[in-house]
Amino acid sequence: MSHFPRRTFLAASGGLAALPLLADHAPGSDGPVADDRPAPRALPPEGRFPIKAVSSANGMAATKRAVELMRKGVDPLQAVVQGVAIVEADPDDTSVGYGGLPNELGIVELDAAVMHGPLHRAGAVGALRGIRHPAQVALRVLQTTDHVLLVGEGARQFARVQGFKEENLLTEKARKIWLHWKQNLSDQDDWLAPPADAEVGRFFQQHTRSFQVAGRTVRKFVRPTGTIHCSGMNAQGDICCTTTTSGLAFKIPGRVGDSPIIGAGLYVDNEVGSCGSTGRGEANLQNLASFLAVELMRGGMTPKDAGIATCRRIAQHTKRKDLLDDQGRPIFDLKFYLLDKQGRHAGVSLWGPAKFAVSDERGTRLEECEFLYERMKNEK
Ligand code: GLY
Repeated sequence: MSHFPRRTFLAASGGLAALPLLADHAPGSDGPVADDRPAPRALPPEGRFPIKAVSSANGMAATKRAVELMRKGVDPLQAVVQGVAIVEADPDDTSVGYGGLPNELGIVELDAAVMHGPLHRAGAVGALRGIRHPAQVALRVLQTTDHVLLVGEGARQFARVQGFKEENLLTEKARKIWLHWKQNLSDQDDWLAPPADAEVGRFFQQHTRSFQVAGRTVRKFVRPTGTIHCSGMNAQGDICCTTTTSGLAFKIPGRVGDSPIIGAGLYVDNEVGSCGSTGRGEANLQNLASFLAVELMRGGMTPKDAGIATCRRIAQHTKRKDLLDDQGRPIFDLKFYLLDKQGRHAGVSLWGPAKFAVSDERGTRLEECEFLYERMKNEK
């Protein structure tokens, strides 16, 4: 007995390159809602939009790959997912996929989402264990199910039946960093101070920042929330994006951040533009910041202005005293990567200086982020 008609995209789940993601998209068939129209803007003619990709600073290889693929006519979502796969597989990037920092139990748990602008469809996975390419699993959720978000054991079962290989994602480097953190957590437990290790020491040094709190400078280890976001636009002006992460280092098992939440870690409206984020996921989740930034661009703001306004909103909404410095500024960071329908882009952060990655007709490079607050001297 047939319960419902097969969707066209279900028929072709054989491989990423073969999936006809745009099969049910008729460009121009659904005009914008009359009172929700983006501010009038001059757009390039169809087929002449600037092919480009923007990403977090760890995504130069990802943007380069995504642009190469889009130039060959690959769908922008497949292009950005294949781009971030390079970083997901990199054991030296401790913020994403294989080699990502684990939860407090030493188990790597990954979050990822994808969003396809022309179809306005999304797929996501949260707290996924044992699969190094969560963005590809998120893409399969979009392509092969009626759901948007699968989590935990259900996400792992889904990945397994989709043919993804299970493996231990905890590298020796990430294990040593995690164990050092655990051994130094408290003087009330049974762990002794760990022996010095140069690589581990460098890691903790790199993630220690200074803040002015209660009139004095406080040095504090800030647990990394590194992530990669990548948005891409093709020559038709179609925009897609993905965000993939191992999330907050040493998190409580089951913690899901902003990366797999549509509107928080990423959002795209094909009429307007896209935004994705890296940094403190909890602050983003409480503000749905990527959705906000895209809506601000819909109202006519440039990517840069929309990103700065979004950072201001987050700062205004941060009330917890332990998250604020003496000047009432959040002590955490969030960064946004924005791309609008006119092909303009920006990277914007709460704290600068900072960089983000861009690939377009001018090549692949890091550019400076706009920022709300300037870090204290000698801080990274
Ligand atoms: N933005 C990544 C996270 O908080 O999980």
